[in-house]
Amino acid sequence: MSNTLFDTAPDFSQPIAVLKHCHDRIRKQLQTLQKLLEHLPLHGADIDAQKAAQAVLKYFNHAAHLHHEDEEQNLLPMLHATARDADAALLQELAPGILAGHEQMDRDWSILKSQLEQIANGSGTALSAGDVTRFCDAYAAHMVVEEGNIAPMAKRLFSQEQMAQLGSAMQVRRGITPVLPTSQVPEQHTKAVDNTVADGVVLADLRLDYGRASLTENDVLDDPIDQFGKWFEEAMHAKVNEPNAMSVATVDADGKPTSRIVLIKQYDQRGFTWYTNYDSQKGQQLRSNPHAALLFFWSELERQVRIEGTVVRTAAEESDKYFYSRPVKSQIAAIASQQSAPIANREQMESNYDAAAAVSGEHPVRPAHWGGYRLDPQRIEFWQGRRSRFHDRIVYVKQADGSWVKERLQP
Ligand SMILES: Cc1cc2nc3c(=O)[nH]c(=O)nc-3n(C[C@H](O)[C@H](O)[C@H](O)COP(=O)(O)O)c2cc1C
Repeated sequence: MSNTLFDTAPDFSQPIAVLKHCHDRIRKQLQTLQKLLEHLPLHGADIDAQKAAQAVLKYFNHAAHLHHEDEEQNLLPMLHATARDADAALLQELAPGILAGHEQMDRDWSILKSQLEQIANGSGTALSAGDVTRFCDAYAAHMVVEEGNIAPMAKRLFSQEQMAQLGSAMQVRRGITPVLPTSQVPEQHTKAVDNTVADGVVLADLRLDYGRASLTENDVLDDPIDQFGKWFEEAMHAKVNEPNAMSVATVDADGKPTSRIVLIKQYDQRGFTWYTNYDSQKGQQLRSNPHAALLFFWSELERQVRIEGTVVRTAAEESDKYFYSRPVKSQIAAIASQQSAPIANREQMESNYDAAAAVSGEHPVRPAHWGGYRLDPQRIEFWQGRRSRFHDRIVYVKQADGSWVKERLQP
């Protein structure tokens, strides 16, 4: 007779099987919850009821959240970046419901949780059948959608490297140090500098092998602004951290470069717009040299976009429109700050803010030194990370007649 002593789980080299295993454990906890509903009227919060409530609490307070995060932060973003055509359409249809389902289940759980806590410590016996049924039904329906659509799609679309990345991310989330898949094992072992960052890992050896997607001449749209829009949307859907943050590089009158992060506020055929202080360091540099370079790095999608061109100020009406759309406190901060100029201390800044607030009241006026810059692009490059550093790069260069010519660059 075989006797299974352990609840044997698949290992993280098969992340989709691990996710299914999580569902099986959720089903087990939901059964316990339903049994508890029958048990309580007969036996009250006895020791069995307390243990059952403790087990359910332990699972849904902790493990279930990790499972949701696996899906929200890894599985779905990776699918968004990989799925095409019918798969992409199905994902587009299902993903919002899955995310909304997680939120709903979290809300339902918080209601059940307080009831279970009392049962777990023997101080109460109340467990609402309606709350239990709603929670169990929601999870059951949710798991059917995931097992019927999402898991098979991931199994079909993900490469070995993507599976390894998903498995590693799930391990890291659970505090397990992932065993690096062979594709991520450092390529060279000569340590030129002893630049240890953590756990004996040397900075020079920190490298990921990219393999989420590819970029071919046929994939990209004819217009680079449309292509940027497509990738930007994908970065938004993939819940990339601050997809609108971009680096702006400028040079001073002596040709020395500087870069900093700003937030893009608009892009269209005219270019890429951000807002700032015209007297700041970047403002002064742009006055003497209007050439600048923008950079987006969407690491979750293994993508980079490089944009080069010349910068002009946005029209006053456009700057007004954005300035007055901001919260009043941000408007006052823009008035109070001489961006990039030294100041003695934080207290001085606060007092400048208070002075500006006192003058402005509820209706600050946009100062002339604050407004938008728009970079008119001449060159836009889309970079997609590929395996073994053999990346895809497609660059668009603007021609004299305003049309764009695109070509592939070597990695
Ligand atoms: C995520 C992030 C977003 C930022 N967004 C802006 C922005 O939209 N406009 C801005 O002027 N500075 C922004 N900053 C601050 C700039 O990086 C920089 O400190 C500031 O513009 C002064 O740069 P400068 O001295 O080179 O002119 C942001 C910084 C970060 C980290």
